[in-house]
Amino acid sequence: MCGIIGILGKHEAAPILVEALKRLEYRGYDSSGIATVKDDGSLDRRRAVGKLVELQDKLVFEPLKGKAGIGHTRWATHGEPNEKNAHPHTRGAVSVVHNGIIENFLTLREELKCEGYKAVTDTDSETIAILCSKFIDEGDEPLVAARKTLLKLSGSFAIAMLFEGQKNLIFAARSGSPLAVGYGKNEIYLGSDALALLPLTKKVAYLEEGDHAVLTREGAEIYDIKGNSVSRQITYLNQSINFHDKSGFSHFMEKEIHEQPIALERAISSYLSDSTGKPTFNLLKKINFTEVSRIILVACGTAYYACYVAKYWIEKLAKIPVEIDIASEFRYREPPIEHATVAIFVSQSGETADTLAALRYCSGRAEKIISIVNVSTSSIARESDEVLEIHAGPEIGVASTKAFTCQLAVLLLATLKAAKDRAEISSTDISKTVNNLKNLPAILNQYLGNVNSLKDISYKLSTTSDVLFLGRGLMYPLALEGALKLKEISYIHAEGYASGELKHGPIALIDDSVPVIILAPYDNLFEKSISNMQEVIARKANVIVISDNDGLREAGLKSETSIEMPKADPLLAPLIYALPIQLLAYFTAVFKGTDVDQPRNLAKSVTVE
Ligand code: F6R
Repeated sequence: MCGIIGILGKHEAAPILVEALKRLEYRGYDSSGIATVKDDGSLDRRRAVGKLVELQDKLVFEPLKGKAGIGHTRWATHGEPNEKNAHPHTRGAVSVVHNGIIENFLTLREELKCEGYKAVTDTDSETIAILCSKFIDEGDEPLVAARKTLLKLSGSFAIAMLFEGQKNLIFAARSGSPLAVGYGKNEIYLGSDALALLPLTKKVAYLEEGDHAVLTREGAEIYDIKGNSVSRQITYLNQSINFHDKSGFSHFMEKEIHEQPIALERAISSYLSDSTGKPTFNLLKKINFTEVSRIILVACGTAYYACYVAKYWIEKLAKIPVEIDIASEFRYREPPIEHATVAIFVSQSGETADTLAALRYCSGRAEKIISIVNVSTSSIARESDEVLEIHAGPEIGVASTKAFTCQLAVLLLATLKAAKDRAEISSTDISKTVNNLKNLPAILNQYLGNVNSLKDISYKLSTTSDVLFLGRGLMYPLALEGALKLKEISYIHAEGYASGELKHGPIALIDDSVPVIILAPYDNLFEKSISNMQEVIARKANVIVISDNDGLREAGLKSETSIEMPKADPLLAPLIYALPIQLLAYFTAVFKGTDVDQPRNLAKSVTVE
């Protein structure tokens, strides 16, 4: 989603801004732009539709001078992606970049129009520039005008502003969308994503909700929502990220799929120790699950499907009722939350607007707020009572892969800890599951060494227009995830269904043109899955079954195509079956020639609701 960069530096800002914007590319965008205050104090800007290379080309022919600048990658919300709607928006003495949505922009736009200030774009963001420049026209100093502007805005936003004649000033504000200030030597930076600042500085401070900041090369003055001067904690970034290093893979998504064994090993060993021979769970130590009457799990997209798997695990093993919901629905249905409830929010980025809003709804209502995130400095992490980092490492591909399996691993460990607290699981079963979990990275490594056979199936998938995924029990959420993965990167229509639900409607879709992918590990539901498979084979479906080989043979059945899986503990099957569904989507998208790492219309971090 949109990205913001700001710099007050010693060198020409434009090339540095463009490089920093490249580090935000992975978030998804459709246009970009930069603005500077030139040495003569005037504002200037360049904007372009499409990839950043378009902006770079423009800068070759029309260079942009100035050592103070702001930059933006835009993911369109209001107004189509064209140059007119691209940021920065400049009006009079003000240039603005904005992430988020100004919800009252129509009212403001009407008011401004009546005062002779007409909008020229279709965006909500332009309103900020017009409003601020109107206050300056009326005689306000830039900072007074910017603060007055903030008071007029409602919605969620992160803003950076430059002013004509001010070569040592950036005004920044955060209300709902993240912003970090980066400190250099006689230089200062601003970023919507601290990682984008990494090569420039490791020293950052995150603005808190309602903060605004006045940046100069000498430092940053930060003010809270009441206008009091405040200091925000300085954090030293210890992550390193290389946005160019695909380690020999063709795409970040492929690299991240192959990183899963090592990422899982990291995630598992962070929360598990067994030096005494008895497994110890090093997570949620302050929660005694015997006192917990309900668990709520909330997330979006792939993270929501991880929650779906966890519901099956927690209810079966720890015997605690679990409610799951997608964050955008949860936040507005005002669910009652009794006190002994633990609310868990799962998010790779830790910045998803709906998940953050759902967390805020539960704050003060639920007994404990737990977040499971990949970015420990994110907004969701910072507003939680306890943070469980998934240790997946930076995920650059827009489609989530290694974050999903690492989320599952952490959720499973949390389930085991809860089941142990409540004495619902024997120590033998705990040891067995823990051992199986520890062996998992090796199993996945071996599996990933031999995935070429998936390419033939993917080639066939790439020529179809509809695909169904079926699963039962723990495989139902995997069927949903398989369909999401395929549709988001290959643009092929796909749906996931609980196998038993097929007869209640979706079976009408089946004919010989629809591939049906059945996830059927050899577990207690295997025979039922095979019955459902027969139902679709009888209707001439082109069936692809993902299963462990013995199970299929024992059932005496042959599907048209089968994908052989390693044998493993059925409880861990979601962590294993995630791989073939990710790979099928990946290879299919490659055959179709889509933009795998940055699929159309999608953003990595969804900071608007
Ligand atoms: C799909 C995908 C999305 C995210 C969703 C939540 O591959 O990546 O569905 O899972 O947007 O994002 P986070 O986990 O950052 O809250």
